Amino acid sequence: MSQHHDHSTHEQHSHNHGMHAHAGHGAMLHAPSSDANGEHQRAYDQAEPDPGRTVVRVDLEARETEWEFTTRRRTRAWTFNGQVPGPIIDATIGDVLEVRLTNRLTEPTTLHWHGIRLPAAMDGTDMVQHPIAPGETFTYRFKLLDAGTFWYHSHSNEPVQVERGMYGALVVRAADEPVFDRERVLVLSDVMLDAHGEVAATGEPRERRDGREGNVRLVNGVAEPELMIWGGHVERWRIINAAAARYVRLSIGRRPFSVLGTGGGFLEAPLGTRDILLTPGERIDVAVGPLAPGEVLSVVSEPYDRGTGGGQVDSFATLRVGPAAPSIADMPAWLGAITPLVEGRVAASREVRFSERMGAQGDVEFLINGDRHHRAEPVTVGELQVWDIVNSSTMDHPFHLHGFFFQVLERNGTPPMARSWEDTVNVPAGGAVRIAWMPDDRPGEWMYHCHILEHHAAGMMGHFAVVRADNGHATSESVHSVAAVAN
Ligand code: C2O
Ligand code: CU
Repeated sequence: MSQHHDHSTHEQHSHNHGMHAHAGHGAMLHAPSSDANGEHQRAYDQAEPDPGRTVVRVDLEARETEWEFTTRRRTRAWTFNGQVPGPIIDATIGDVLEVRLTNRLTEPTTLHWHGIRLPAAMDGTDMVQHPIAPGETFTYRFKLLDAGTFWYHSHSNEPVQVERGMYGALVVRAADEPVFDRERVLVLSDVMLDAHGEVAATGEPRERRDGREGNVRLVNGVAEPELMIWGGHVERWRIINAAAARYVRLSIGRRPFSVLGTGGGFLEAPLGTRDILLTPGERIDVAVGPLAPGEVLSVVSEPYDRGTGGGQVDSFATLRVGPAAPSIADMPAWLGAITPLVEGRVAASREVRFSERMGAQGDVEFLINGDRHHRAEPVTVGELQVWDIVNSSTMDHPFHLHGFFFQVLERNGTPPMARSWEDTVNVPAGGAVRIAWMPDDRPGEWMYHCHILEHHAAGMMGHFAVVRADNGHATSESVHSVAAVAN
C-alpha cells in the first residue's frame, strides 16, 4: 500500500487521519487541521449579507435516486434532492449562501463550491473539513462576492460521486445584468451506462489513464434533449462542463455566437466565435441567436484531440427554432473593465509542472512537480503570484485553482484573445500557460489540481497554505515560509 492517500479508497484510509503530518515539502496525506471545527465556526459566524441583501438557505440531501438519464431506463443515480443535476442555486452578489447538506449515501462526501471566493474552511475539501459521514449534516455558509456561473460538486471519491450525479449549478447575479429574452443553465456531462442501465464500474486501465468519457452525453441530466428557441430571440446560456474527462469544443450549428463571460464572470466585451473549448470544470456564458424560424441546429462538441485521439463530432442537444417572436434582448457592446494584474513582462515566481510517469504497477502515474499530492510552498497574502503551468506530459490537463481567480498572461507564449478571470484553464500537452493571481486575505489550506477527475483522484494535485505576512495566522508551515521569504 502506498503512503499516498487515494480518493478512491477514501473509506479505508479515513481512520488514518491521525497519522497525518504537515511535512514542509513533498507529498502528503489529506486531513484537516486539528482546529478545523473552530475555523469552520469562525467562518460561519463571520458570513453576514451586505445591507439590503439576504441569506439564501438551501437544504441539500445527497441520496440515491432512480433517475432516467435516457428514456425508459432507470439508473441508480447519486443525487442532490433526487435530481440530476442538483437544484440550481440562484443568488445575488452580497447574499450569504447557507447550504445544509445531509448525507444519505453509504459513503462519506464533501461539497466543493467551484470558482467561489470563500473562506478556506468552507471550500469543501478534505484538507479543511472532515468528510460528512453517512447520516451526518454539515453546513456551508459564506458570502457571495462575485457574479458569474459557478457550480458545486462532490469533492470525495469524485470519479464515482460526480459521474453518478452529484453536481449542480450556482448562479450569482450582479445588481444589474444585461437583458436577454431568456436565460438557460445548461450543465453538460456524460455517464457510462452498462447493459442493465446502471453506471458501469470504474477502473479500466484506459479510463484511469485518459479519464472516463461516458457513452451517454447529458444536458441537465438528460441524454441529448431537444431545446426550443423562438425565432428572432437572443438567449443567454450559462454552460457548465461537469464531465469527468470529456473536453467539449462547443458548436451551436456552426453559427456564430458571442461569448459573454467565462469562469470568473464577464469578459470586457462580447467575443464572437463559432466554437469554444470547454474543459471539465470550465463555464462560459454565451449569447445565442437571433435564428430564423424553422431552423434546426445541432449543439455538438466538435473534434478536439486532447492527446487521447478523439476525432469525432459528439451530439449534446438539438436546437429547434420556433416561430418568430418579438425580442427585448439588449446585447451590450461593453461589459466592464478588467484591470490587468500585470503590465508588461514579468518573471514567473513559481513553476507548476504536470507530468506522467510509468508506475511500478504498469499504470501511468500523474504528477505535479514530480509528486502525487504535491506539497507546495505557501503564498503570502497580497503578494502577486505569477505561475508557469507547464505540461510535460502527452495529454492536455485542465488546471483548476481553488478559491482564487487568475488571469491568463500567455498560452504557449502568446497572450489570450481577451482578458478574463478564470479558475480553470487548459494546459495543452507539451505546452505552458502563464497565469497571475493575487492572494487576498483568506488564509488557510488551498489546492490546485487537474480537473480530469481520475487524474485528480490519482494525485495530480498540489496543496499550499495562504499565509498572512504578519504571521497572524501562524501554523508550523507558515512560520517556516515567512522566514524563508524574509531571507
Ligand atoms: Cu471543481 Cu477541486 O474542483
Ligand atoms: Cu489531467
